[in-house]
Amino acid sequence: MTAQPDSRLAILRQTSQAMLDARDEAALRRQPRPELSPLLWHVGHVFFVENYWLAERVFGDTSVTDRWRRLYFPEACDKQARSARLPGPDSMRRWTAEIAAINDRYWAHATPEHHDLLRNGYLHAFICQHYAQHIETMRMAAAQLDLASDDGAAALDVAEPVCNRRVSVPSRRVRLGTDSIDAYDNEKPTHERDVERFDIAGAPVSNAEWLGFMNAGGYDRHEFWDDDGWRWRCRHGIEHPQHWRPAENGWRIAWRGDPATLAEAPVHGIGWYEARAFARYAQARLPTEHEWEAAVRADKIAAAGQVWEWCDNAFKPYPGFTAFPYDGYSKPWFDGHHYVARGSSRHTEPEIKRAGFRNFYPPTHRHVFAGLRLAW
Ligand code: AVJ
Ligand code: FE
Repeated sequence: MTAQPDSRLAILRQTSQAMLDARDEAALRRQPRPELSPLLWHVGHVFFVENYWLAERVFGDTSVTDRWRRLYFPEACDKQARSARLPGPDSMRRWTAEIAAINDRYWAHATPEHHDLLRNGYLHAFICQHYAQHIETMRMAAAQLDLASDDGAAALDVAEPVCNRRVSVPSRRVRLGTDSIDAYDNEKPTHERDVERFDIAGAPVSNAEWLGFMNAGGYDRHEFWDDDGWRWRCRHGIEHPQHWRPAENGWRIAWRGDPATLAEAPVHGIGWYEARAFARYAQARLPTEHEWEAAVRADKIAAAGQVWEWCDNAFKPYPGFTAFPYDGYSKPWFDGHHYVARGSSRHTEPEIKRAGFRNFYPPTHRHVFAGLRLAW
């Protein structure tokens, strides 16, 4: 189970380390937003977490973790305190290479007889998924750092009315969750649930449709908003998706694709409150995550997309949930203040692209590459 140079683990490590080459030290140390950690912290964290599970938990070797746990365990160090305590990029390059070498020696001896976590390749898959998730978060952080420069921005000036193209999903009993051993605790246990007949949009809401909402005064009309969302919108002066910038005849939007495709591309840069307001403006609603999964399992919509899709419901445990392999992955976030996003974005690594995967964020997080799809 060593990380062969071409294995996914090796590639995920390299992708994480490569984040150190793309920016200067000041940018790597910056917290792009209060809810995001510096890029440099994420790089240290992913190598640390691999070492924690493998060296400490499986083999009882705490030599690395004792030195670094107060920085790299998220609960041990406030986000605001991380920047000043991080080593510099060169030091991080050397350290991650050292940790990778230590971890590889342990992987070479990591057979299922050693520890239950090693059965059926569970720990290896868990560690790869952890890298995969942080790589996407690093891409979110990098996108925030890039907002200051106008490079890669394209113009948006066409608004569209809400597209009513939809597919119908008949009432059915649907199997929810992920059977695979690699699934996260919150995807388990798989279970059946009755889902009533509903319609769901064939595609996520586009940038042009979002502009239609804005031109209709969507951000100024309280009747579209939940009270909490309206208070948040007023307190923070929210008037457009997070990365949109006003221009002469419309908006400039960070966009690396063909400028001609920007208008039809799915909107993102919006939080759950905004998604709900749009749905009300459209005389529709957000799908629940159960409906979303039912539509995917019935082959009515695609599970993998360009943006995550906000769902209507808060993040809650499935019936019979047990935390595994630690409480912190899911349990603290069943607090009613986190909402589910399903699917995947254009920045998601393959390890977490599956129909049953549940992402979750507070309703005010707008940097998370999430958009929405309508339901009726
Ligand atoms: C599921 C993406 C919200 O990034 O906070 C990473 C994933 N958990 N390390 C997050 C996670 C522990 C989590 N999200
Ligand atoms: Fe983590």
